[in-house]
Amino acid sequence: MHRVGYHRTPLARTYDVPLMARVLSGIQPSGDLHLGNYLGAIVNWVSDQDEHDAFYCVVDLHALTLDIDPADLRARTHDTAIDLLAAGLDPERCTLFVQSHVVQHTQMAWLLECTATMGELQRMTQFKDKSGGRESVRAGLFTYPVLMAADIVLYDAERVPVGDDQRQHLELARDVTIRFNNRFGDTLVVPEAAIPKAGARVMDLQHPERKMSKSVNSPLGTVLVLDDPVEITRKIKKAVTDTDGEVRYDRDKKPGLANLLELLAVATGRTPTEVADGYERYGDLKADTAEALVELLRPLQARRAELAADPGAVAALLARGAEKATGVASATYDRAAEAVGLLRPA
Ligand code: TRP
Repeated sequence: MHRVGYHRTPLARTYDVPLMARVLSGIQPSGDLHLGNYLGAIVNWVSDQDEHDAFYCVVDLHALTLDIDPADLRARTHDTAIDLLAAGLDPERCTLFVQSHVVQHTQMAWLLECTATMGELQRMTQFKDKSGGRESVRAGLFTYPVLMAADIVLYDAERVPVGDDQRQHLELARDVTIRFNNRFGDTLVVPEAAIPKAGARVMDLQHPERKMSKSVNSPLGTVLVLDDPVEITRKIKKAVTDTDGEVRYDRDKKPGLANLLELLAVATGRTPTEVADGYERYGDLKADTAEALVELLRPLQARRAELAADPGAVAALLARGAEKATGVASATYDRAAEAVGLLRPA
């Protein structure tokens, strides 16, 4: 049972909602949230707020492993926080913060770097993909998963909602945490991945065999959460389908159509098969899917415009989030520092 770690860790929980499982997740400040991020991940973050003691961070330190312009990074971090608030994260019900605002992330990462091994980091497929064929690879790209593990353990997180692509990083976080506890005594809560079911995977509209993703450049295949109605409709109308003309839900044989059916299903709270029953023509399905997505995103876009007009208020929310996060993170870091034998300041 995944809560065992917590019960065996006497000092683990200092927060005031002790009965709810702690959840933590992070998102890169890539800007331009798209439907894949939103329906695949953020929607779950929003619903987790009520059932869990949820911590969410914009991982700006992780973004430094990429080539990113400093002014851009700052702007995108702010924009990503706004996107999350607009999507329904409520600072009254969750703790939303920027990773670099809580200094314990890098401190904890060092303790875990001295626990992780070169061999296990070399096995990370994401590292292999991103570093392959390059002349010069940053050390930060290599230790990226350790910083991620630090993000998680600092909050005694039992549950970590992530996409399937992060499964291996989560396994590493577990291994490193277990090794730390074996060596220094039960100190850190061992996390577990919470990976959403396949239905939440939004595929690229032009290449329905691959996940909708910002890093793969497919502007027509990616619906941005901020796209206006005309843009959304244009992208859905141009979505790749097939030529047999039959509306039927079949992920393997009709991936493009299945993606549209799934989108309309999530937007209207039905199953893709139920949705398919109501249509005979691709054109009608596309028109209704576009309309449903426009309506789904309308309130989010309105909230986003309000938030963007008041950057001071957003900064204040993030400051409060950082303060709450620091309370938890500093207690965990102190416990870990003590355990490894660092002389603590008086
Ligand atoms: N690596 C994650 C991604 O690219 C982002 C991330 C950083 C994260 N720290 C985290 C996710 C902690 C969950 C928990 O999506």
